[in-house]
Amino acid sequence: MTNINVSTSPSSPGPSSPVGVKPSGSSAALSPSSNPLFDDDSEDTPGEHEHDPTSNELIQVGDDAYSDYASASDYSDNTSVTSSIRAYLFHNGRRYHRYGGQGKYVLPNDEAEQDRLDLHHHLALMVLDAKLHTVKLPENLHRVLDCGTGTGIWALEFGAMHPEAVVTGVDLSPIQPNWVETNVRFEVDDLEKEWTWRENHFQFIHSRNITNGIRDFGKYVSQMYKHTSPGGVVEISENLHDIHCQDGTINGTRLEEFWKQYKECSAKAGFRFPKKEDIENYLQEAGFEDVTAKIYVMPWGPWARDKRLRRIGHVLAAVAETGMEAYGLQLLTTFGDYTVEQARSLFVDAMKEMMTLKVHAYQYMVQVTGRKPTDAN
Ligand SMILES: C[S@@+](CC[C@H](N)C(=O)[O-])C[C@H]1O[C@@H](n2cnc3c(N)ncnc32)[C@H](O)[C@@H]1O
Repeated sequence: MTNINVSTSPSSPGPSSPVGVKPSGSSAALSPSSNPLFDDDSEDTPGEHEHDPTSNELIQVGDDAYSDYASASDYSDNTSVTSSIRAYLFHNGRRYHRYGGQGKYVLPNDEAEQDRLDLHHHLALMVLDAKLHTVKLPENLHRVLDCGTGTGIWALEFGAMHPEAVVTGVDLSPIQPNWVETNVRFEVDDLEKEWTWRENHFQFIHSRNITNGIRDFGKYVSQMYKHTSPGGVVEISENLHDIHCQDGTINGTRLEEFWKQYKECSAKAGFRFPKKEDIENYLQEAGFEDVTAKIYVMPWGPWARDKRLRRIGHVLAAVAETGMEAYGLQLLTTFGDYTVEQARSLFVDAMKEMMTLKVHAYQYMVQVTGRKPTDAN
C-alpha cells in the first residue's frame, strides 16, 4: 500500500513551522486537493495515513454541530487467570497490580482498565488501517514476543493470523484470558529486569504503549536486540506523551491543565517519555538496521473535518473517558497536590471541554521498526 506523505507541500516554510488548523469555512487552509490526509468530509482517505509533523499542513476543523459521541461503557469484560500473584492493591476504588511494588506502574488493571485497553486496541487498528504491525515480517516466523501485552488482545489476534508462530505475551499483571489460541501463551514478568528468554530467540518482538512502565527505555531496547534472532524484526508503537494544538484553542483549558499536571507528575515519578527520535536512536544504538519511524495523527475528540480523523477522534475520546483517570489519578494525587476529588473533577471538566469540539487538540502515535542484522551474533 502506498504511503500518503504530506511533507511535500511546496508552500512549507520549513521544518520548524507549526501545523495550522483551519476553522470550518476558513480560506486560510490549503486546498483539499493539496492534502489527501486532511481534506474533506466526503469519503475516507484510502491507504496509509502517515503524517509529517514538520509540515504546515492543516487539520481542518469540522462542523461544530457534529456530535454522535458514544461512551465506552458497553464493552465486555475479560476473565483474569487464577494465580497467587493476584494480590492486588486497591486505591480510590481502582485496582492496581502488586508485582514490583506500588508505584512501579501507576495505571490500574481492573475491568474498567481492561475495557479501555481493548478499546484502545481498536483505535490503534483504525489508525493503522486494520494492520497489527507495519514492519515486514521475516519468513520462518516461529517465535513472537508481545511486551506489556495488557489484556493480550494484540497477541491473540496476531496468533490467530499466524498459526505457524508461538506468540508469548508478557505483562506485570495476569489480566489475560484463560481460553486462548493454542499457539498463544502468557507470562507474568517485569521487563525492566534482565530478560530470561534465550538470546537470539524471537523473530518478531512487538511493544505497544509501555513507556509508563519502563524507566530506562534504552536498556529496554537493548534487551529487545539481545533476544531478537538475526534477521528478526521489532516494532515499537507509542502514543507520544505530548498534546498538540494548532490554533490555541487548548490554551487555558482544563485539558491543557491535565496534560501539564500529567507530564510534571510523571517526571517526578521518574518517567522521561521518549520522543520519536529517541526511540529511533535507541534502536540504532542497540544495533538494529533499517530503522524506520512513521507518525500518525490522533485528534482528541471528533473535531476534525476529515471523516477518518473524526472517527479516530471519536474513539480516542471514548478511550480518554476512562483514560485520563487511568493515567492521571495515582500520579496527580501521589506526586502532585491534587486530592482525589480535585483530580476527578479535572478529568470530567477536560472531557466535557473535549466534547464541545471547540478544543482542537491532537496527539501523535508512532510506529518505529528495525531489523537485527542477519550476521549478528
Ligand atoms: C498501556 S498498557 C498497553 C497494553 C498493550 N500493549 C496494548 O497495547 O493493548 C501497558 C501494559 O504494560 C504493562 N507493563 C508496564 N510496565 C511493565 C513492565 N516493566 N514489565 C512488564 N509489563 C509492563 C502494564 O501492566 C500494562 O498492561
